Amino acid sequence: MSAQPQAFESDPSHPLKRFWESGPAAWNAALTRPQVLIPFFVLAALVPLVLQYIEDNSSWIGAQYWTLILASCAMYACLAVALNLVVGYAGLLNLGFIAFFGIGSYAYALVASDQLQQHYPLWAALLVVVIVTLAFALLVGIPALRLRGDYLAIVTLGFGLIMRDLILDLDRPPVLANHQFGPNSLNLTGGTNGIHQVDPFKLPTSLPLLGEIPHYRMYYWLFLGFLALSIYAMLRWRHTRTGRAWVAIREDELAARAMGVNTFKYPPVSPAAVRFLQVPDDQRPPDRGDGFPARRPAGHGVDPAAQIDGRHARATDRRIGGGRLGRARGCRSRCGRRGGGLRGDPDPGRPDMTDRQRVLEIRGLSHRFGGLAAVDKFDIEIVQGEIISLVGPNGAGKTTVFNLISGVLRPKVGSIRLLGQELVGRPAHRITHLGVARTFQNVRVFPQLTVKENILLGTHHWTRSGMLGSVAYWPGTVRAESAAHAEVQTAIDLFRERLEPRLEDPAFTLSYANRRRTEMARALAARPKLLLLDEPAAGMNPYERIEIARLIRSMRDRGLTIFLIEHHMPLVMEISDRVIVMDHGVKIAEGLPKEVHNNPRVVEAYLGRRAASA
Ligand SMILES: Nc1ncnc2c1ncn2[C@@H]1O[C@H](COP(=O)(O)OP(=O)(O)OP(=O)(O)O)[C@@H](O)[C@H]1O
Ligand SMILES: [Mg+2]
Repeated sequence: MSAQPQAFESDPSHPLKRFWESGPAAWNAALTRPQVLIPFFVLAALVPLVLQYIEDNSSWIGAQYWTLILASCAMYACLAVALNLVVGYAGLLNLGFIAFFGIGSYAYALVASDQLQQHYPLWAALLVVVIVTLAFALLVGIPALRLRGDYLAIVTLGFGLIMRDLILDLDRPPVLANHQFGPNSLNLTGGTNGIHQVDPFKLPTSLPLLGEIPHYRMYYWLFLGFLALSIYAMLRWRHTRTGRAWVAIREDELAARAMGVNTFKYPPVSPAAVRFLQVPDDQRPPDRGDGFPARRPAGHGVDPAAQIDGRHARATDRRIGGGRLGRARGCRSRCGRRGGGLRGDPDPGRPDMTDRQRVLEIRGLSHRFGGLAAVDKFDIEIVQGEIISLVGPNGAGKTTVFNLISGVLRPKVGSIRLLGQELVGRPAHRITHLGVARTFQNVRVFPQLTVKENILLGTHHWTRSGMLGSVAYWPGTVRAESAAHAEVQTAIDLFRERLEPRLEDPAFTLSYANRRRTEMARALAARPKLLLLDEPAAGMNPYERIEIARLIRSMRDRGLTIFLIEHHMPLVMEISDRVIVMDHGVKIAEGLPKEVHNNPRVVEAYLGRRAASA
């Protein structure tokens, strides 16, 4: 064995070994850099000349044969690039992909061969190819793309098999054969023999500086050029607005919709996705830091498992108002808040909200899941610049209220108005466009996208650039992209030391707390008028909770109106202008934090009647 491989195997710092061990994502990033791609294509373009040189200077004959083989390789590589867009980036398992290649090929052959006695000029034949393939794509795509995963794979596989059988049998269609065209004339596909003598592309046979060029070499260069163009387009597209949106839909369709991506325009929405949103919350981090016992079962005064006696009740009651607040008090100076601090007392410096513009107005909102009234005749008003907290025991219906506001669930009863505009009946992406952004209880970042790309997704609904613009990069696209990148900087201002060093890291590498921060930054980048935060401090330690309190205040200071669900009562008492308490889908209390926390109905909702009166 030579010394080289040994060095490679035994030396952990060897660049080749490091490259080998860095994994497919890193290989992909390394191999798609211009420093690699440009020399590759230049060398690839020279290959037929080298083959010709060898043929001219030796007894070997095969330059034409091998050049045509390489031309086929380049053509199939173009197909692979397209397949990568659909299956790799958009995540649509389309097994009928190759059928479209077949349809395009047969469409060309039929109008450029003796099969139907048609010999269209090249441009007209290509136009026919585009129209026919597009027609088939729409015919199959409109119904099939409403499916996902296995279902999409089965339907597209079926389409591929049908096309194969049709192509094999359309040399003698039984219905038409003796009708209009006569028994021998209607041979559409040539059956197993295919169509022969198809008109070749008429390419120029001489090029400036290169002189006379054999046709097979021109073919090769043509396909190599197409391949270079498709790879360039793919890489450009992936890192602009539409590319990010496609990948986001693949990663988490619901979160993409909540960021304003119209999933009907891009790969359409799967109704199945909605089911995942409200799964019982088994992903809740073990340390909620809420200080409350689990919800008592409906219809029981006291959760027997909790065995709350007077002592327990008082201890828990203390936590509602003080307890953990006291511990957090030591960090008050770091919070940079107004007024008293983490005492659970209403802040005497809270601004007067009476004259402010009404941002959100909900009237008579109800929602049932089968027999369960998750939200029942819910009313609320939130004015500009307010921080309102929605609290209540587990299963009270808080997240359902957020889902109804943000369009994840479609309300059937009641009205939700944002700055006077009715939201009921609008899809989620439109609601984001009107000014509602949200975070999710079970953090929903796009794991394979970097932190920066995640935040850029927030800008999707207010930037404009289409697929063509992503590739052509015309001025509109450049402006949209630079505005989006500037917004990332503004959004991470609040999370600077936490997120800035991680901007280029994929979100799946982040800690739980940083994923929550990324989600918040993404929501901020959407430039919302109303921000819905679903348990932003869940799973965070006391210091991080203080940081979250400071963050929420800073967001409000930037002019945002904040509607917050939170279980950590000290945080709620500290930052809220008003608190709303829900139980069993019904609003049971509303008022200043202090009023609410002394409300007997609230204590009872959390602890049960017996415990509350103990
Ligand atoms: N998609 C769904 N299908 C059926 N029931 C659901 C669905 N989503 C929520 N629920 C039920 O509706 C009720 C309210 O749920 P929701 O998630 O809104 O509660 P929550 O107040 O956010 O609770 P938590 O504090 O645990 O997050 C619960 O009983 C829940 O089991
Ligand atoms: Mg919830």
